[in-house]
Order: sequence, then structure tokens, then C-alpha cells
Amino acid sequence: MKILKYTMLIMIMMALSWSCQVPNDTGGSADLDSRVESLLKQMTLEEKVGQMNQYNGFYDVTGPAPSAGDAKNKYEHIKKGLVGSMLNVRGASEVRKMQALAVDSSRLGIPMIFGFDVIHGHKTLSPIPLAEAASWDLEAIEKSARIAAIEASAEGLNWTFAPMVDISRDARWGRVMEGAGEDTYLGAKIGVARVKGFQGDDLSANNTIAACAKHFAGYGFAESGKDYNTVDVGSVSYYNVIFPPFKAAIDEADVKTFMNSFNIVNGVPATANTYLQREVLKGKWGFKGFVISDWSSGREMIDHGYARDLEHVAELAANAGSDMDMESYAYVKHLVDLVKAGKVKESVVDDAVRRILRVKFELGLFDDPYRYCDEAREKELIYHPDHMAAALDMAKKSIVLLKNENKLLPLQNDGRKIAVIGSLAQDKDSPLGNWRMAGEDNTAVSFLEGLDAYGVDYKYAKGAELITGPTAFPVELQVNTTDKSGFKEAIRLAKKSDVVIMVLGEHGLHSGEARSRAHLGLPGVQQELLEAVYKVNKNIVLVVMSGRPLAITWADEHIPAIVEAWQLGTQTGHAITQVLYGEYNPSGKIPMTFPRHVGQVPIYYNQYRTGRPGPKNEVFWPHYMDESEKPLYPFGYGLSYTTFAYSDLNVEVKGNNKVEVSVNVTNTGEVAGEEVVQLYINDEVASVVRPIKELKGFEKISLEPNEYKQIKFTIGEKELGFYNGEGKFLIEQGAFKVFVGTNSEELLEGEFVLE
Ligand code: BGC
Repeated sequence: MKILKYTMLIMIMMALSWSCQVPNDTGGSADLDSRVESLLKQMTLEEKVGQMNQYNGFYDVTGPAPSAGDAKNKYEHIKKGLVGSMLNVRGASEVRKMQALAVDSSRLGIPMIFGFDVIHGHKTLSPIPLAEAASWDLEAIEKSARIAAIEASAEGLNWTFAPMVDISRDARWGRVMEGAGEDTYLGAKIGVARVKGFQGDDLSANNTIAACAKHFAGYGFAESGKDYNTVDVGSVSYYNVIFPPFKAAIDEADVKTFMNSFNIVNGVPATANTYLQREVLKGKWGFKGFVISDWSSGREMIDHGYARDLEHVAELAANAGSDMDMESYAYVKHLVDLVKAGKVKESVVDDAVRRILRVKFELGLFDDPYRYCDEAREKELIYHPDHMAAALDMAKKSIVLLKNENKLLPLQNDGRKIAVIGSLAQDKDSPLGNWRMAGEDNTAVSFLEGLDAYGVDYKYAKGAELITGPTAFPVELQVNTTDKSGFKEAIRLAKKSDVVIMVLGEHGLHSGEARSRAHLGLPGVQQELLEAVYKVNKNIVLVVMSGRPLAITWADEHIPAIVEAWQLGTQTGHAITQVLYGEYNPSGKIPMTFPRHVGQVPIYYNQYRTGRPGPKNEVFWPHYMDESEKPLYPFGYGLSYTTFAYSDLNVEVKGNNKVEVSVNVTNTGEVAGEEVVQLYINDEVASVVRPIKELKGFEKISLEPNEYKQIKFTIGEKELGFYNGEGKFLIEQGAFKVFVGTNSEELLEGEFVLE
């Protein structure tokens, strides 16, 4: 029966002359449109609405579970052609089974698209996205997404809900771990690299998957860093700070899908926001793909006080351009009737379905709905040694050296007595980080295992547990705030050691969705442990594992060497060891400002200029009475085992809104190293107040000792201009400052005038 149905589908497809390949040229695009149209014409209204409906699989719940009644008809609905997509179903054979229900049993046999949160690797886990961003290495980041796509597609998946391109300046927000940090320019570049990595050159290949730019828009600006909280941001910031990474994902990487967000945008939930989805995204930006809601973001409009009931949700969301419903069950229940009642035009449904079918055609699903379901490929590719090697490379590149007094690092394997302290040092799970959906528990190389593999002779004491309860998601983390019984042993060990490596920080589930923190210090009793050990041995290398910038101000004042090791995924232990022992010279730069104190948050380098920039007198300027206004570590900051000198900044206006900037960078230390050369500008007087400086270029270079390179940047219209509150792009004449250097604060300064 199944075979017969599928044969029939193929025959129908042939009759409609759907070809196997979907070419990318213009002719191909017209061809694609006509295929979509001819299929659309055969569909009943119910079937069309079905395409707009996504169901969660039967495991991996990534949000509040729907009531049982909602889920019970899933299989029947798939067979009736009422389901366009599944999320959280994976594994070549699982997907095949589920796909067969749609293809074999539904009237038109339209294949489903299978979505999953492939966020930082799939089975082989790369560092959390924020950590990857610290590499500023676009090629490596693209490769990391490529590998994630290869593994995910081998497990039957063809769509990821990534990359998250939300800009955020609030380290309290747990989801900062999932993005590229605080900066729009860097965030856009990284977002584009990730989309390219997932989608590859040919979306119809069996190892590429559709990407999803999320969460449109403003989700990273939740007030007080509390997930799902109110967002209230002005349009200048929307256009200049929040939108650009989304727009770049379309313009530069042809991202196939968007996900809207939980928050309100100017008082209207994003899911029902016509301005966002129809005017900006599908209108001004000409986006051809489809928009999926976030998990029950439709239904949540009732709680927002924006929709009366689920029927109203369906009406508002569909009319506003939210094409596919994730976990609200609003379209499948009400959209057909709403069309019949004239509250939603059938053309609105048609537009959504066209967009969804288009992506399915582009993925090659009509050519072979099972193209991603090859068990042999799955076996061969998951945890492939090449993937492991790339994950290690990415992990090393993501590490940031924050402090290194008296060249304590790199360590030598020279017989000095090494103590390792901290429960995270032996943790094989936490370093995998959050949003590691397909990742298997306890599969990270722990730091201790990394040391073992490197042949380091060390002694270990846990000092204290970080977590006291189970860490299964989704349960609240239980942090150890009382048990210090292990301190004694740690202190005893530290006393008789030459160097103490302390691995402290957050658990992998301290960040991620719904993981906001009001405190940004080391959780639990770890600060006390650090201070207790410091009392007996000051020769400490502090390795910080975290999913966000932490306010480790005390450590910065006392501890001689500090390494930010985030959550680095599968290869964590090897990567940290290789950096500590100088096998790899650290080159990461923080993509988010580290605050001195949580009270400074949101803190970011590219603030708008204020009327009282500096201390003209003691009191009346933007500062704190009880804390410095400076960050602990500024955006773009990170040290190396070598040093770099910047000189010969040259700035030339070339006419036609083009400026050329060059600078010499010399490796003035004793070992080879990599440096991220950063360029910032400031438009001195503008019709919209501009930030004090904004990143507009960077290049990661590698230099041998004493070698120098001249680095050239071209600043063009895209970099010189900005948007006003109406979304109009302006380039204004007048004076600009230009800055080039090693981080957002240590910079050479030049200037130019646009005539
Ligand atoms: C998250 C999305 C995610 C979705 C599906 C939501 O809770 O906000 O980013 O893609 O769940 O898992």
C-alpha cells in the first residue's frame, strides 16, 4: 500500500513535470514558482491550512507541554494532510516512519519538513554560539554549522531553528549563550556565516538543511534580562541594532526561514505584528521564505492580553504574516473556519502555503521525501573523526585569555606540582552547554581527561559540588550554597602545590532559555572556595566556564591568570589543556562586555553619545557613586601569549563615500600568534544621535615573532550610513572619527571628513 501510494505520487509528479533538481537561476525560480502554483491549485483549504501547522514530536519537549487533548490526533492529522511539519523527531528511521505517514497516506502525499534545534553542533557538539563568536573566525564558524548540518541531515532532519541572531547587551539573559553577543556588525557577519554553513551551496543536497533566523525581533532586549519579559525599544535601535543581522541573513545568505519571537514590539506581540512581518520582512526586505511562530507564541497572545481566545490568535497571527504555527494548535483548529467566515482571506493562506511549499521544493523533498533518511549515512557521519577535529579546533579558537600576570601561562609540563580544584574540572556534561538537543549526556572530554591525555601529572580535589540536584532539562538547577565540606581537602592540596588550576563557573544549564540570573558572580560557594584557596596559594590559574560574561571582579584583582573557557562542547578538556600548556596560543576576543558588577548591566561598548560624556565636574555625569563606570573587560578584549603593536594608522577619503584605512600590526613577542584587528568609527554630528563608536571592520591575522603586516580596510556606504526612526538609510556628510586596535578601548585614532 505504501509503495503504491508513493509510486502514484511519483507519477503525479512526473505528470506535472516536476524535475529532480531545482535550479537556482532565474528560469529555475520561475519554474519553481509554477510547480508551487500547480500544487497549490490542487489543494483543498483544509490541506493548505495543514501545511501551516507544525506538531511537536513525541519526545524532546522544548517548551511548556501542550494539554494532552491537543496532541492526541497527531497521527491522524498527518495522514489527512493536516500537518506540514514536525519538530523534535529525529533519527533516520524515525523520520522515515513519520514521513511515510504523510507521503503514503495523505491525499496529495506532500512531504513534511522536519525541524530541530541544531544550535551548536548536533551529536558532535561545538562550543556554545557565544563562545564560537569569541573566535571572530568566520570560516571556522561556518564550518562548525556545516558539520552540524551534515550530522543533523544524516539523522533525517532538514531544517534547523538556528542561527539565533538576537543582539543582547544583558548578561543576565540566559539566551546570550545562543547568540553572537552584543554587537550588530559582528553578529551579522557571524549570522551570515552560520546560515551559509547550514544551507551550503545547494539546499537540495542531502547534507544541507534550511536555516532559520530567529527571533524576529527584539527578543534579546527583555527588560531586566528576564526571559520572556517586556521589550520596549525605540525604532532607531530596531533599525540600527536589532534588524541588521536578520537583514544580512536574507541579503547575504538567502536564509530560508524566520522565527518570530515571544515579546511585544511596540505593544504588539511579534507573532501578530503586521509591521514586522509584512511591512518590513516580506515587504521592504523582500523575504521569500516563510515565518514560523515561536513555541506557542501564538497562544501566548491570550496571556499578553492581545487575543481573546485561540480563534482570535489564529486570525491575528495569520493576517500578520506568521506562516506556520508551532505548538499553538490555532491554525489547525480555527483557520479554515476563519477563512470561510471571511476573517482571513484565502489569499493570506495561499501566500503562506506558497512560501512553505517553496522551501520544501528547494530542499528537494518532492524529489525524494526520504533523501535525508539514510541509516548508512547516519552511521558513518555521526561523530565522524573530521567533525571531532573541527570541534577541537573551534573550541581552542573560542577560548579567551583574560589575564596573564608574570607570564604564569603557558604552563610547562616540567614537573612542577599541579593541583586541580573545582567540580567542573571533572564534569563531562556541563561543558556541553545548553541547547544541545541531540547531544548525548556526559560525552564531553572533561578538563581532567584533557590533562590525562596530555600526560600532565596533577592531583585533584573537588573543593565543592556546584550542583546538588539532577540536571535533567527542564528542571530548575539546584546550586550548592551550603556544603563546604570539601574545602579542607582542596586547601590542603593547594598548600603543597606549585600551581593551582581552579575550574569554576556556571553549570551548562545556568544559561539558555528561561535561565536568567540576577547575580553574575560565580554561583554557589565557588567564590568562597576561590578565596580560601588563594589564602594558601596565590599561584592560581582560574579557568572560568560560563554561558555568559561573569562579573569576576575579585578574581581580576587577585588571581594572576584567568582564562574564559565558556562551554566548549565535546572537545572541552583537550582544548583547555592545549591552551594552558601553550600548544595553542589563545586568540579569542570577548563578543560581550564583561561587567564589574551586575548593577552596570546592560553594559556595552557602543552606547549612544550622551550630553554629559565625561567628568567635567565631580558629580554631574553618567557614572556610579559606588562603582566604576568602566567594564571589567571591554568588548573585543582578549590577550595572547605574544604581544602586538599597532602603528602607522593612515586614513584616506577616496571619494564616492569610500574611505581607505591602513594600519601596521607587529608581533612584538616571542611566539607566533593570531590577532583580531578591529576597526571602529564614529559619525561626529548626525541627524540621529550615533554611538560613541561602532565596529565596522575586523580581520583575524597570524604573525610570527617580529613579523608585521599592513592591514587595509575599506569603509563604504554600508558602514558609513545609518537608519533613522522611519527606517530610512542615510549617509551624512561631515566629520568622522576612525579607530583601529586590539579591542574596543585600546585604539589608535584618526579622522576623516565626508564632503
Ligand atoms: C525557543 C526557540 C526554539 C523552539 C523550538 C522555543 O522555546 O524560543 O528558539 O527554536 O522553542 O524548540
